[in-house]
Amino acid sequence: EKGGFDHFMLKEIYEQPKAIQDTLAGRIKEDKVDLSNEISLSKEDVQQIERIHFVACGTAYHAGLVGKYVFEKLTRIPVEVDVASEYRYREPIINERTLFIAVSQSGETADTLAALREAKQRGAKVLAITNVVGSSVAREADDVIITWAGPEIAVASTKAYTSQLIAIYLLGIYFAQQLEAKNVGELKEVVAQLQKLSEKAELLLQPEQVSIVANFAREIAKHQNLFFIGRGLDYAVALEGSLKLKEISYIHSEAYAAGELKHGTLALIEENIPVLAIATQKALYEKTVSNIQEVKARGAYVLGVTITGDTELNKSVDEVIHIPKTLDLLAPVLTVIPLQLFAYYACVERGYDVDKPRNLAKSVTVE
Ligand code: BG6
Repeated sequence: EKGGFDHFMLKEIYEQPKAIQDTLAGRIKEDKVDLSNEISLSKEDVQQIERIHFVACGTAYHAGLVGKYVFEKLTRIPVEVDVASEYRYREPIINERTLFIAVSQSGETADTLAALREAKQRGAKVLAITNVVGSSVAREADDVIITWAGPEIAVASTKAYTSQLIAIYLLGIYFAQQLEAKNVGELKEVVAQLQKLSEKAELLLQPEQVSIVANFAREIAKHQNLFFIGRGLDYAVALEGSLKLKEISYIHSEAYAAGELKHGTLALIEENIPVLAIATQKALYEKTVSNIQEVKARGAYVLGVTITGDTELNKSVDEVIHIPKTLDLLAPVLTVIPLQLFAYYACVERGYDVDKPRNLAKSVTVE
């Protein structure tokens, strides 16, 4: 049942190229995204949307954080992202011009479902991104986009996250097409690059790539604390990488927006503390590198993640992992893969139960 893998989590990490492919399948026609068979929102409806609320829990919340960048960039519609258990209690501003997007692998998370009901009751249009056809979230939403990741067994979510990102890109591009807010050529380029992600994800699962990550993970498994840093979309991915590591290996880690370290916790960067530094975003590269130099100067042991072809980062870090070239906007789908593997190998090294971490359920149906 684990298809030759030691654990479901590892199997599911390796299933990501297929999950990406399957989630794209049938949704791109002649270099355009076409969701018209799945989504009832008309062009006029999309043009009416004033604000978007992404609401979710755990890993799905982290997909929502990527969603904020994607939608704001492609559609210029303001986006807020909330963890579902907080959403209702802050009296969010909701009306008929609000699009509420629930992201949920299982479609059964009680907090997410409660937030969905609240938004719907207050007049929002409700859309669900879920992996389970016919789930509660899918049934109660006005519109549904299914992530075709297939069943996810490991409690720590991997292929569901990358599929959620794909669904978010598809929806963001689809809306941008309707709004005519972006240059057509630019959107076509996003669509073209989106279709190449599956193949590129495959490259990150090649043995040489995996062994760099696994070696670093074995080293780090001895530590009690580490940091993930990045800016922009790299920060969103850093949060997910940190969560994954904490969830299964019980190593404490903190994800920090790289530029914010100096305003707070730089004092915690001591001799030999491991730092996973992500620098895939071209526009933020120089600034991120200077933040990496700040931690290096304090003796941190740094694993850098950057784009293939970069010859600079290795001067500032101890080890480097390269992500195949893609658009900045799409990089999270690739960047997260070594971070998932990192959490996996750290957990294996520590001898914990990978697929069933303590105190964590796959789907939580209480608020
Ligand atoms: C948590 C799970 O309870 O719920 C996480 O342990 C998951 O792995 C989160 O990301 C959200 O679940 P779902 O099914 O709503 O995406």
